[in-house]
Amino acid sequence: MNEDEIEQFNKISLGGESSSASAISQINNKKTLTNQSQKPTNQLKNGLLGWYAICSSKDIKNNQPYSFTIYNEPLVIYKDKEANLRCVKDLCPHRGASFIGGEVIDGELVCPYHGARFSSRGECTNLSRITCNHIVDSNYDNYASKIHLYQYVCKEIGGYIYIYYDGKAKTNLSEFEITDNINNRLLNNYGFDISSYKYEEVVVDFKCDWARVIENHLDILHLFWVHGDTIPDNEVTRDVITSFNQEITREENQIESKYKYKDKSKGEFIRIKFLPPGRIVIYKGQPEEARYIQVLDHIPLSKNKARVIVRHYRKFMKNKLLTDLLLFKQLQHRVFYKVFSEDYMILRTQTYNNQMGYIEKDNVKLLGEDKMVQYYWDWFKSSDIKDHPWELHPKDSDTNTVHEDRSMLYPPANPKLERQNNKSILINVALRILIPVGLILLIL
Ligand code: FES
Ligand SMILES: [Fe+2]
Repeated sequence: MNEDEIEQFNKISLGGESSSASAISQINNKKTLTNQSQKPTNQLKNGLLGWYAICSSKDIKNNQPYSFTIYNEPLVIYKDKEANLRCVKDLCPHRGASFIGGEVIDGELVCPYHGARFSSRGECTNLSRITCNHIVDSNYDNYASKIHLYQYVCKEIGGYIYIYYDGKAKTNLSEFEITDNINNRLLNNYGFDISSYKYEEVVVDFKCDWARVIENHLDILHLFWVHGDTIPDNEVTRDVITSFNQEITREENQIESKYKYKDKSKGEFIRIKFLPPGRIVIYKGQPEEARYIQVLDHIPLSKNKARVIVRHYRKFMKNKLLTDLLLFKQLQHRVFYKVFSEDYMILRTQTYNNQMGYIEKDNVKLLGEDKMVQYYWDWFKSSDIKDHPWELHPKDSDTNTVHEDRSMLYPPANPKLERQNNKSILINVALRILIPVGLILLIL
């Protein structure tokens, strides 16, 4: 499927928009909500399969396939000869090797095992290299036509690489039935003018349940307690833990909650949007006026392994010289890493409790403040029943953990980058002090 065809699919799948907030009143008067007592309800059109943001455009290097897993399935992304992005199942059709450690040469994917090269259409372009001429059988040509790569539809928009994931890679992209419109994931579709912002980005890997990480990012209450000392906002501290008036809407493409201070003179605290299956958008006020937007994309690498791409868009501090001088990027990364490290142990142990069945056994009682979380689980449960994504590429305890081990690249699972960032801050601060002092000493 080419770009035009994908656009065409998107238009067809756009469908009519509907809006309904009627379900909010069902639980407004309840002091507590139990996890089990409510039958899952779901007004969202999309389930767990569909468009996922996988990485940033900058992660795709010219000569190297970018590898990752989603719902256990190993995939690679690379740029082909025509500079189209390709997302390919990580399986060489010669003898089943992985493309990890392979290369991209002249826009062709090269297997690290015997050097077979593949065009983006899946054909092997250098069969003579992997076949001895004297034993070529009469079906040599048939072999060449049978060999192929399996692919998913892949798109690059706004510096993100998205794939349309349905768990069934295909040799021919035109066979995909795209039932989810990628526009539903894009911020411009919700009134944000994203071109007027600058952003910083970090990637974080959690050894825990993907769905729990999303729950954490939809949760307002823990910000004050867990991150109160880290978030640079005097209104967010342990001393001012507070509940809010909430306005929650569940529509076809999103769940959104607006949190307003109970003291009306203080206005709005924050808004959170959940755009299934994996995107969360956090901002304040009307989209067109928001000074900052935090965008969190969650990728279910494998069971209990989740990756989050965090982007913080801002309308302030846009001058490059000034931001470089003030180490704005490094300092913001420091806050990100600290926030996610703070969440990490909670998420891991919560994952354990979930695996042990403690959370499912009606042992937890949600509060009125957890409405957003409850709505999210409503969606998740009905989507899981419908899509059962973990059954598409199931593993058992004997399955080699190579992909899981490799996938933990970023803090907090691997704190190396965090340490590097802290070191960079120290060195830069020292330089900023030492250089002027040295100059003064020279003059004297
Ligand atoms: S397994 Fe890939 S070239 Fe042989
Ligand atoms: Fe958190």
